[in-house]
Amino acid sequence: MTAQQFDAVDIIRAKRDGRELTQAEIDWVINAYTHDYVADYQMAALNMAILLNGMNRTEISHWTAAMIASGERMNFDALSRPTADKHSTGGVGDKITLPLAPLVAVFDVAVPQLSGRGLGHTGGTLDKLEAIAGWRAALSNEEIMDQLENVAAVICQAGSGLAPADRKLYALRDVTGTVEAIPLIASSIMSKKIAEGTSALVLDVKVGSGAFMKNEENARQLAQTMVDLGKDAGVNTVALLTDMSTPLGLTVGNALEVRESIEVLQGGGPQDVVDLTVALAHEMLVGAGRATDIDDIRAALSDGRAMDKWRAMIAAQGGDNDAPLPVAKEQHVITAPRSGYLSSLDAMAVGVSSWRLGAGRARKEDQVQAGAGIELHAKPGDKITEGQPLMTLHTDTPERFERAIAIAQEGFDISDDVVTGLPDLVIDRIV
Ligand code: URA
Repeated sequence: MTAQQFDAVDIIRAKRDGRELTQAEIDWVINAYTHDYVADYQMAALNMAILLNGMNRTEISHWTAAMIASGERMNFDALSRPTADKHSTGGVGDKITLPLAPLVAVFDVAVPQLSGRGLGHTGGTLDKLEAIAGWRAALSNEEIMDQLENVAAVICQAGSGLAPADRKLYALRDVTGTVEAIPLIASSIMSKKIAEGTSALVLDVKVGSGAFMKNEENARQLAQTMVDLGKDAGVNTVALLTDMSTPLGLTVGNALEVRESIEVLQGGGPQDVVDLTVALAHEMLVGAGRATDIDDIRAALSDGRAMDKWRAMIAAQGGDNDAPLPVAKEQHVITAPRSGYLSSLDAMAVGVSSWRLGAGRARKEDQVQAGAGIELHAKPGDKITEGQPLMTLHTDTPERFERAIAIAQEGFDISDDVVTGLPDLVIDRIV
């Protein structure tokens, strides 16, 4: 590394004053930060200048490329089938990856779904799958390749070699109030996805109270920025803008969400989970050059083809498909205080309540409870009768109920009138 090529303070000043950064400046600052030559306080100042003054498409593209270059790149060219991946910006009850990966694999497209754990109110895919006895998240690159060749679907932990600059930057952003910068979110997500080496990518960009992006304008901007980055890097990328004002499906929490995903793979499950799984599968198959009729995709859920793939995928990673899923020791039911129509059920409130029950973690080191979480018995628009169960809260540690109930009870409204104007599940498609 040429440590003397630039001075960090000049680059900070340039962005502070609204100047476009050059490729050489960006390459240098990311490389120098990864190697501890640029200090955390300097990178924090630069991140804040980026949050306040933004970056243009060229700068974001260079920033992303520099983060990719900080680590290894995976390459799936040796596989006998094309690859497609999905990334969700995160939501409450978002278990879609679980039925989606085996469903897409049915149509001879390999799905390398390298995932993370949850932090805060949104759950992590790996935490959910770890509710299955014996299932193993950490695979070597060779095991990933073998599974993609033999089963076509793999959901596993992203290795530490992909975009290490992002790991360092993300931890810094988390504690310096700079997570929310759209150029930084977009480059963080896309550096990992491009380094992962998929040839087609579908982004599920969530909008609403339970999402990173609370309003549609910001979500649109994030989606377009990520789609542009993907295309610039030669990855066939599209984004769906989807609603996260209310939880997806009827379960939130690790084992509860696995149970619901299995229902979907058995041809049942809540309509919104089925519809979003099918919509994303369709986009992934189109992106991978295997355009498939929506009805055939739906049929693969009801005729057992996706279930066969799921069982093979779980077994390949040591999971026992026949072991009962963990159930929490204690339950508490929240009932409707009056009759009417459920006019809102806030994703954030349900997510935080589930997290307080033990489904999520407050610190990276915390253990999650596999059985903790919330079952929903009604969704926005439903007619309800006073005293009927609205949600069942699950935990192994009943001392958690009080705070979890408090927030869950603030998270819904009941109106006298029929509810109209609920948001569409898929709000838009961004290309
Ligand atoms: N997810 C990421 O990987 N990075 C961000 O910056 C935000 C969400």
